[in-house]
Amino acid sequence: MSARKILVTSALPYANGSIHLGHLLEYIQTDIWVRFQKSRGHECHYVCADDAHGTAIMLRAEQEGVTPEQLIARVNAEHQADFARFGVGFDNYYSTHSEENRIHSERIYTKLRDAGHIATRDIDQMFDPVKGLFLADRFIKGTCPNCHADDQYGDNCEVCGSAYTPAELINPVSAISGATPEVRSSTHYFFKLPDFEAFLKEWTRSESLQPQISNKLQEWFEAGLNDWDISRDAPYFGFEIPDAPGKYFYVWVDAPIGYLASFQNLCERESIDFDSYWQKDSDAEVYHFIGKDIVYFHALFWPAMLEGAGLRTPTGVNCHGFVTVNGAKMSKSRGTFIKAETYAQFLNPEYLRYYFAAKLSSRVDDLDLNLEDFAARVNADLVGKVVNIASRCAGFIKKQGGTLSPRCAEPERVQRFIDAGDAIAEDFEAREFGRAVRRIMELADEANTYINDQAPWVLAKEAGREQDVLDICSVGINLFRQLVVYLAPIVPALAEEARVFMNLTTLGWNSRSDVLLNHPIEKFKPLMTRVEMDKIDQMIEVSKEDLAVEKKLKEDAAAKSEGTASPLISEPLAAEIKFDDFIKVDLRIARITQAEHVEGSDKLLKLTLDIGSETRTVFSGIKSQYAPEALEGRLTVMVANLAPRKMRFGVSEGMVLAAGNDNGIYLLSPDSGAEPGQRVT
Ligand code: 2FM
Ligand code: ZN
Repeated sequence: MSARKILVTSALPYANGSIHLGHLLEYIQTDIWVRFQKSRGHECHYVCADDAHGTAIMLRAEQEGVTPEQLIARVNAEHQADFARFGVGFDNYYSTHSEENRIHSERIYTKLRDAGHIATRDIDQMFDPVKGLFLADRFIKGTCPNCHADDQYGDNCEVCGSAYTPAELINPVSAISGATPEVRSSTHYFFKLPDFEAFLKEWTRSESLQPQISNKLQEWFEAGLNDWDISRDAPYFGFEIPDAPGKYFYVWVDAPIGYLASFQNLCERESIDFDSYWQKDSDAEVYHFIGKDIVYFHALFWPAMLEGAGLRTPTGVNCHGFVTVNGAKMSKSRGTFIKAETYAQFLNPEYLRYYFAAKLSSRVDDLDLNLEDFAARVNADLVGKVVNIASRCAGFIKKQGGTLSPRCAEPERVQRFIDAGDAIAEDFEAREFGRAVRRIMELADEANTYINDQAPWVLAKEAGREQDVLDICSVGINLFRQLVVYLAPIVPALAEEARVFMNLTTLGWNSRSDVLLNHPIEKFKPLMTRVEMDKIDQMIEVSKEDLAVEKKLKEDAAAKSEGTASPLISEPLAAEIKFDDFIKVDLRIARITQAEHVEGSDKLLKLTLDIGSETRTVFSGIKSQYAPEALEGRLTVMVANLAPRKMRFGVSEGMVLAAGNDNGIYLLSPDSGAEPGQRVT
């Protein structure tokens, strides 16, 4: 088979948020597919970038008191660190805020315009007179015109489900400034999508899309295609539209063009011929991996833009579903909205790669990360089956000098393992990773059964059976080697350690055909440890904490930018409670006997509290306001009967009381005369 030229992309994450497990499904799915293609010897390039433009990023930077450029540089570094932790091996990770992207965006737009596919017309839109910007629907809130529920977004009501325009909201306010928006008119630029209806109908019927997606598209065709509004008025963080001062490309225009720009940047670095991938008659393949929420952009707007600009269209748009955790949508308050960084603090990223692979198919279905099943499956399969084969055989081989037998005692079995690679390869190619994993685990079961039946540990005790022991264990290592080649795209770090252990120069797909005879191996080191349930619990607890920190940061940032608390974040009074409820809270006078910095935390101080009868350790998010030495010896008030909480840095046994507003944090103190341990009522 001759080498294919393949370009692969994953959707570009927005440059104003952290990578979480929902994102990771896509990057892991794509990365497995890319690693598989590379293992097969194809020329495969995997590019991505941060999606750096738009109002949300502009506002976020403003809130943080930094420039958008500073914000996106920081987030880009964070994203790259997260991807590296999870073994996502982009050949290039770039930003849509790049010169290459500006050039490609202008070029594509100009081609579309010159071919008559751009129209302009004036539209009325809500305008925030305080911030001086037009407001997208999600930045307007008000009372639902249908059910009169307060605090609903500008396009639909979360309470009664009705859809409306922002102008129909009762008492609309800008979610950014709190001001009442005005209706203003401005000229917008439109991409005439209906010009491409015939082309799109044809293209979407081709092999490029999954059946579920093609069906969805037919519904959209039936509903009729509309012109797409591709401009936004200044102020906007993005690229100005050529010959249209004050008008910027809507972020969704230059986002997919960012695929080209990132690839262009790679091509320049590595002398790859860009045009041979993107020209109309290209023989290269281009695949976009995306989530089901952005199909419209990738299966309609994007191919139409490419077609209109005289470029080739994607070979495939591969769409996946969403991640749920324990059967429910990821939830910040339940601690199941788990950031990549938080996961990696507690668990090996390869566990997740394996679990996702084991449950992925080529369909668009959602994928449930059931945390108990996750632990059980990784432990049973990777640790209990795969790694176990090597650990059972390696010691006996080492005892005999560390070189595999010069003969293969089970040529047919080894050949079957080699041949199985063809069906497994078909599964990988078709993104049927779950099916590939099932086949690989069946082979792992067979290898373990073989070793169990042969019981080299029994023969090792019998005189004169050394060669038999060496033969059996050498078969075991050969079978293990096949499994490692098949698993390498899924668990590359584990595979790399196994490669070093087996002294192999490559784990390329075809390398599996050479049976290892007379081959030296290295000392075996445990390749993977078991998933521990308490690490999962800790990860959930810390994810709940991440939410609290995030909320505080948002509040601080909003307060900083506005000078006062924004109307959307001011805290309403909590629901009324009975005296019986209040009295359950055991408040005590506490003396801070020690206050220390917490290594790795820029928010927390570790406090040692004397409450008369006992000493407590409490972690408190007051570092921004208090130097530890200023706290030692002072009295405060603590909640003494709060259940202990496992935090990233230790267990917190209660909570000290503090007030917080825009200007700072204020620890409560009793009047003089109060004694540690006294109850506060
Ligand atoms: O939905 C999102 O997260 C977008 N930032 C994806 C962009 S993908 C591509 F078109 F750039
Ligand atoms: Zn309503």
